[in-house]
Amino acid sequence: MFNIPERGGRPQNLRIQIPSPPQEHNTRAPPPLQLQINPKKDRKPPDLSLYTQQAAITTTTNTTVHPRDLPLETLGSSGLESLALNKEIYDVGSLGAGAGGWVSKCEIRPNDPNLPKKIFAIKTLPPGPRDIELKELIINERCNSPYIVKYYGTFRHEGNICIAMEYMDAKSLHEVYNRVKSEGAFLHERVLSEIARSILLGLKYLNAQRILHRDIKPSNILFNLNGAIKLCDLGISRDLDGTLASTFVGTRNYMAPERLSGEKYGVNCETWSVGITILEAAIGEHPLPEHDEFVANYDKLAPPQLTDLPDYGVMWSPAFKDFINQCLKVNVNVRPSPTQMLEHPWIKNQQDKPIDMGAFIRRVWQ
Ligand SMILES: Nc1ncnc2c1ncn2[C@@H]1O[C@H](COP(=O)(O)OP(=O)(O)O)[C@@H](O)[C@H]1O
Ligand SMILES: [Mg+2]
Repeated sequence: MFNIPERGGRPQNLRIQIPSPPQEHNTRAPPPLQLQINPKKDRKPPDLSLYTQQAAITTTTNTTVHPRDLPLETLGSSGLESLALNKEIYDVGSLGAGAGGWVSKCEIRPNDPNLPKKIFAIKTLPPGPRDIELKELIINERCNSPYIVKYYGTFRHEGNICIAMEYMDAKSLHEVYNRVKSEGAFLHERVLSEIARSILLGLKYLNAQRILHRDIKPSNILFNLNGAIKLCDLGISRDLDGTLASTFVGTRNYMAPERLSGEKYGVNCETWSVGITILEAAIGEHPLPEHDEFVANYDKLAPPQLTDLPDYGVMWSPAFKDFINQCLKVNVNVRPSPTQMLEHPWIKNQQDKPIDMGAFIRRVWQ
């Protein structure tokens, strides 16, 4: 049995428990999700349904294989574009909307009724200055990591840019911590350290590919019901290419001070965003509500800290508090990189306490 750590425990009224790893493989079907997020009214998703025409490709052996029957991974941007043109991509529900566009759950229904439907997500960006991102999205194609949401291709449809990616069926960290909060609970430290570890492993992988993510925030950390935790929205990342990136993109609330001041920045800016993201998930709200004040005075103001919540009986461990302190060093020269943060005792020492993230996330959404 997994032992709940003595410090950083939950208040007694909490209903979210740390699940032990299963003794045997759990074959029970995950509960259906109740998706209740509506896209912003003024951003109507394009109609990708009502399909009439048929598209088919011929293989070298002269057998005709309909693109609908091909694996998603092999369709590529042009295969997806032709399916969209032929109205063979069905929009089956909104997954949410952000500053730049909206995300839908989509499916391709195979020609052969015995084959399963292909489920994936499409992020739609309306035309505009973000057009420039189209070529930058190519970097997604070389990512292959269990900590990065799979990318299937990008195509234009009805004037919009559509980015097809893996569908993550247990929503984002933003929705997960809000759901836990709505139960009057806080995420347990062990769960938070596992989330932090996955984010850091994703960033370590990207760094090895010479890619900066540049938009780490709770809504870009996605879960699935098997317990996987992955980074999405690499669209605004750019290759490091030997030089430091200096383009001003991303969400200001999670930006490191050196980015806010317009200086050149490197991989250590991601560590800051990880710190704000994990701190937000721990306390259930953004830690810098007066962010404009911080933006104007970041060199004079103390960075946010993780403090105990005695009213709720929540006492965080010293290691967790130190993890947040290290991430939120205003001076980039003393702030560790994401790879270095993987060596932090809060991340390393928790690993001998097994956790079943799949059971945890299924309980959150049951
Ligand atoms: N691949 C995906 N699978 C499932 N849900 C997703 C996926 N990508 C994004 N979402 C959901 O769509 C919401 C909006 O995403 P996005 O448009 O990128 O806005 P944001 O700026 O909040 O990240 C996210 O909060 C997330 O819940
Ligand atoms: Mg996003």
